[in-house]
Formats: sequence, C-alpha cells, structure tokens
Amino acid sequence: MISKSHLQKDIKSMKLYCHVDRVLTELRAVGKDDDEPLSASELTPFDQLHYHGTESVDLAVERAKISADSSVLEIGSGLGGPARHIAATAGARVTALELQRDQNALASKLTARCALSEKVKHICGDFLTYDGSGSQFDVIASWLALYHIRERSQLLDRCCALLNPGGYFFAEDLYARERLTQDEESELATELFAMHLPDYDAYLQDLAAAGLRLETVEEMSDDWTEFTRMRQLNYRAQRARHTALHGEAVYQSMDHFYEVVTRHFTSGKLGGLRVVARKA
Ligand SMILES: C[S@@+](CC[C@H](N)C(=O)[O-])C[C@H]1O[C@@H](n2cnc3c(N)ncnc32)[C@H](O)[C@@H]1O
Repeated sequence: MISKSHLQKDIKSMKLYCHVDRVLTELRAVGKDDDEPLSASELTPFDQLHYHGTESVDLAVERAKISADSSVLEIGSGLGGPARHIAATAGARVTALELQRDQNALASKLTARCALSEKVKHICGDFLTYDGSGSQFDVIASWLALYHIRERSQLLDRCCALLNPGGYFFAEDLYARERLTQDEESELATELFAMHLPDYDAYLQDLAAAGLRLETVEEMSDDWTEFTRMRQLNYRAQRARHTALHGEAVYQSMDHFYEVVTRHFTSGKLGGLRVVARKA
C-alpha cells in the first residue's frame, strides 16, 4: 500500500485538486467575504466535484432512502459539497471523510460558515486506514472517489463492515469500457489519479463477492461523455472571465484537466457507473 504522505502528494498530479482556493475566489466574486455566513445552496455551483452536481446527490438521497434519522459516511468528500447538501436537505448526520488535508480543512470551514457543523463531521484520512471508532452507518456514499483507491476488495470489505445490516452503498465511479493501453493507463494514473479501473463485469462481481447485493446499476458513460464535453466547451468559452478571476496558470491547469477527461470519455474506453447495492 502507498504510505499516507505519498498518497497526499501523488494525488495532486490531478489538476482538479491543485487550486483548492478557487472556491473562495468564486465566492468573493459574488460578494461573499471569507468569513461571511453562507447557505449550502449558495455553495453548490462551486463545491460539487462530480457530474450533475446536486441532482446526483438528490438521487442518492432518494435511492438510499436517506432521511433525518440516517447516518451517512461519504468516502472522499472533497470540499464537502455532497455532505452539506445531504445534511441541509435530508437532515441526515454525515461523516465526510477526505484524504487531502487542504480540501478537508477548507471543507470544514465552509461547513461551519453554513452552520452545519453539528450535522457534518469532517475527518481527514484514508478510508482504508481511518479509525471509525466503532461507528456504523446506514449509508455509505461516494462520488468519483473509489477509482482513486487501488485495493478494491479491501475497500469493499471495509464498506461492508461499516454498514448496518440492510445498509445502502451508493457509488458513482469510473471503470474501463475497453482494455486500455499502457500509455492510456499511465496518463489516467497521472492526470486522474486512476488507481483502479475494472471492467464492467469485474466491477459488479467484486460487489457481490464482498456481500453487497446489487439493487440498480446505471451505465453513465454516454451521459458523462456529453457532460464533460460541454464542460470543456463552456470553460473555454469563458476563458477571459476565468483568466481575469483566477489567473492564466489556473486557467491552463483546469483546461488541461478538462481536456484529458473529455478525451478519455470520448475515446469510448473510459466509462462511468452509478451503483446502488445493499449489505446482504
Ligand atoms: C473527485 S473528488 C469528489 C469529491 C466529492 N465526493 C464531490 O463529489 O464533490 C474525489 C475525492 O476522493 C478523495 N479520496 C481519494 N482517495 C481517498 C481515500 N483513500 N480516502 C479518502 N478520500 C479519498 C480525493 O482526495 C478527492 O477529494
């Protein structure tokens, strides 16, 4: 296993994770000072680091039957967007676990500004090694985080161990639709920090082997190909605005990231799944 300090450093090869303060710059641009209170919904244009923003989080709430009584663990919570949205809309208690220290620290500050700290507990750690202190969850959810973790069977065994009986597992994740060349694997490992991209059958077999009974699986590849294509086009169309606000280096870095993601989806080899399963 890669050591925690190496993981922290290596994952920054993915440019999406390099300019964490962009969200504060965007907030200042709409007139919000750094300590000013916020509502979770004011943040959602900037804090959802996955496709289709809160629409996809609402689907998780519906499909995993999240309510005010639920305890939810989000693996790879980023800036805390999905966790705050779940707490603000469904009233659930959310443990937001995030590997990267800078993202976790900012997520925690944003949650405090939204007055949601009682509902959302931010923890910095690696899902494979974090100490859950005996916590059990009704729901484990993750958006575009699982493919970062190389050890899939260990990851799924931990999910099963941390879920209450009948508990829900919701994941939006990447997989390989076709065999990748070594160059493609290597570019995806660097630019997307893709550490585990199984094929479709292996993805579902691994869930079953871990004791997670599949409820639904949605093939998201075409949808996410179009989403990422439009994201890149829109980003470029607003180049002047982004450059003026964030500077040329940040613009180039984000543009590069969006281009790589779009290219791999468009090739037909990188795919996406939305999976709901339950602990048997
Ligand atoms: C694409 S981001 C998504 C963030 C958030 N789920 C969202 O949708 O806004 C995936 C996150 O997973 C985190 N991550 C990766 N490996 C992790 C691990 N082993 N334990 C905890 N978090 C991890 C990354 O640091 C990253 O912030």
